[in-house]
Amino acid sequence: MTKQVTDGIFWVGCVDWSVRDFHGYQTKRGSTYNAYLVKGEKIAVIDTVKAPFAADYIANVMQLVPADQVAYVVCNHAEPDHASALPMAMTVFRNATLVCNAKCKEELGLYFEISGWKIQVVADGETLALGGGKTLQFFNTPMVHWPESMVTYVQEDAVLFSMDAFGQHYACSERFDEDANMAEVMQEAKTYYANIVALYGAPVKAALNRLGKLKLNIVCPSHGIIWRKDFSRILNAYLDWMVCKPTKKVLVIYCTMWHSTEMMAKAVAAGAEELGVDVKLMDLAAFHDTRVVDEALDCAAIAVGTPTLNIGLMPRMAAALTYLRGLKPVNGKASFAFGSYGWASKGAEEAAAYLEQMHTVPVAPTLTCRFKPTSEVLASCREAGRKLAEVALKA
Ligand code: FEO
Repeated sequence: MTKQVTDGIFWVGCVDWSVRDFHGYQTKRGSTYNAYLVKGEKIAVIDTVKAPFAADYIANVMQLVPADQVAYVVCNHAEPDHASALPMAMTVFRNATLVCNAKCKEELGLYFEISGWKIQVVADGETLALGGGKTLQFFNTPMVHWPESMVTYVQEDAVLFSMDAFGQHYACSERFDEDANMAEVMQEAKTYYANIVALYGAPVKAALNRLGKLKLNIVCPSHGIIWRKDFSRILNAYLDWMVCKPTKKVLVIYCTMWHSTEMMAKAVAAGAEELGVDVKLMDLAAFHDTRVVDEALDCAAIAVGTPTLNIGLMPRMAAALTYLRGLKPVNGKASFAFGSYGWASKGAEEAAAYLEQMHTVPVAPTLTCRFKPTSEVLASCREAGRKLAEVALKA
């Protein structure tokens, strides 16, 4: 299936309704691998798709033009969700030249046998005239999401193929923002940003500063719906997300063995609730890391609770904190570590060490208790929750 985006520009991508794991990211609503076709006097396709969808993608292109008329295949990004159909595409589109930047050529050569491909390396800002009122311009956007990342702009139509930026892992039958369920789209856009792009706030800012100078009528990401009606909606959200802008929210994540640390977590949450802030209480036995990072992106403060298991923190908590440490959504925010233990108070201490590595600011000393929290311990937890909320209220 294809969809016309605007005059001479078509969506030729594929919808993946079933994918639920994207290198560790839980994609509960599937995804799409967006690719596009630009019809000037010459034909260019922008990106390919994930390898299992290669035949569908090629069939989409061939609904619009014969395979031997594809003159260019632009590769904006070497990650396999967009590039792993390239070997089939470069075989079927036998007259095509691959267009990419130098870093992308290097990386593609590490993934695929590219020696038989015609490749045109383009520089930052370079243009490629297709004729017929279609001129492509290429802009490097390093680390949004990989070093080679690039976007492609159609000058005459002010259409930007923004690659991973502004995308969502969101399978649906609609292709455009004017038709889609925007509450779901914005939720998935936020989850996508938090889990894929959040680490690269500075490169995102640099890219937005640069691309913001372009006239943008339509923005076509590589995943999810196309921004045709109201690009400002996602752009404004990105301005907040790229600085992990805190809201009046306290996030409490915990693991528990025999409910003692859970009692402490609930007391922290109750203390925060007393001040009227938004509180999210997440038992990591019930919540995937994808959701934890989603909530962490815009929290103002985080509390982390774990019992001691085998003279350390719970492995599930170690996984979550490792993921948070990598993506950095809570760096510099307020924190509190707590947990119960039987005979070695190591779990909460290790959690506190993770929080220190994330440069968080403790609102109270790490709090531990042996076996079951007393009323005094629970009162201290509530007090820590209130302190976290006081920080959140200033957001
Ligand atoms: Fe959708 Fe970075 O790949």
